[in-house]
Amino acid sequence: MRLKDKTAIITGGASGIGRAAVERFLEEGARVVIADYNQDQGEQLVSELTDHQGRVAFCQTDVSNEAQAKAAVAFTLETFGRIDILVNNAGITRDAMFTKMTEDQFDQVMDINVKGVFHMTHAALPHLIEQGSGKIINTSSVSGVYGNVGQTNYAASKAAVIGMTKSWAKELGRKGIQVNAVAPGFTATPMVEKMPEKIIGQMTSVVSLQRLAKPRDIANAYLFLASDEADYVHGHVLHVDGGIMM
Ligand SMILES: NC(=O)c1ccc[n+]([C@@H]2O[C@H](COP(=O)([O-])OP(=O)(O)OC[C@H]3O[C@@H](n4cnc5c(N)ncnc54)[C@H](O)[C@@H]3O)[C@@H](O)[C@H]2O)c1
Repeated sequence: MRLKDKTAIITGGASGIGRAAVERFLEEGARVVIADYNQDQGEQLVSELTDHQGRVAFCQTDVSNEAQAKAAVAFTLETFGRIDILVNNAGITRDAMFTKMTEDQFDQVMDINVKGVFHMTHAALPHLIEQGSGKIINTSSVSGVYGNVGQTNYAASKAAVIGMTKSWAKELGRKGIQVNAVAPGFTATPMVEKMPEKIIGQMTSVVSLQRLAKPRDIANAYLFLASDEADYVHGHVLHVDGGIMM
């Protein structure tokens, strides 16, 4: 049990990679709060996790809203008494070629992918600092590392996540708080499955392993960074992308 007696908040835990992380963390003994915008999907997931009742709870949260981020942290402390791990996984895309991209599409992605990470971490930090320990895992993307056609807003947001990760690693290491990021490659989740088949084919063709990631492939990277095995990994961006040559 790699996360026995640890408490984790996983944002965007109702779907895709976040959902796989919820399942993986529970399998390894953690207590988990799913902080997700989608109430139906979040509550449905909790009701399906029958083997882990009492160790998993849902808190409807819009991470882009400061008050709701604070409420998710307060809910976790009331429910499980502590927070050891924060996985800032919630994210959205609003893709368009740059000439057609609207300010609204840019702002929506920035609000959730960047400000959401800011608000959740801001809300959890006083507790982690008082505790003198904690692991923060931020979700970036290969798009944030290499850029991507049709994803100016998303790539900018995911590059910002790397910037925040490295800055927080510098500020918070001396307080006992570890901060890392995962940069997933193309992963078979609802975010990608809604794309045209042709685009999915093009995405797969640039992956050396010639397949999309499974959500569990990425969840396993979160698990590693959340576990004691990664106690000396800090300020790192872990690429989990099957070998992408963009
Ligand atoms: N799927 C990929 O190919 C891929 C690649 C690289 C990075 N990522 C990143 O991985 C993370 C998870 O992506 P996914 O593919 O599992 O997506 P997904 O769409 O399957 O799940 C995202 C979850 O986030 C939730 N969410 C959206 N807005 C929210 C908000 N404001 N507050 C709280 N929750 C909110 C949704 O309700 C959903 O449950 C995202 O940060 C995404 O950018 C995904």
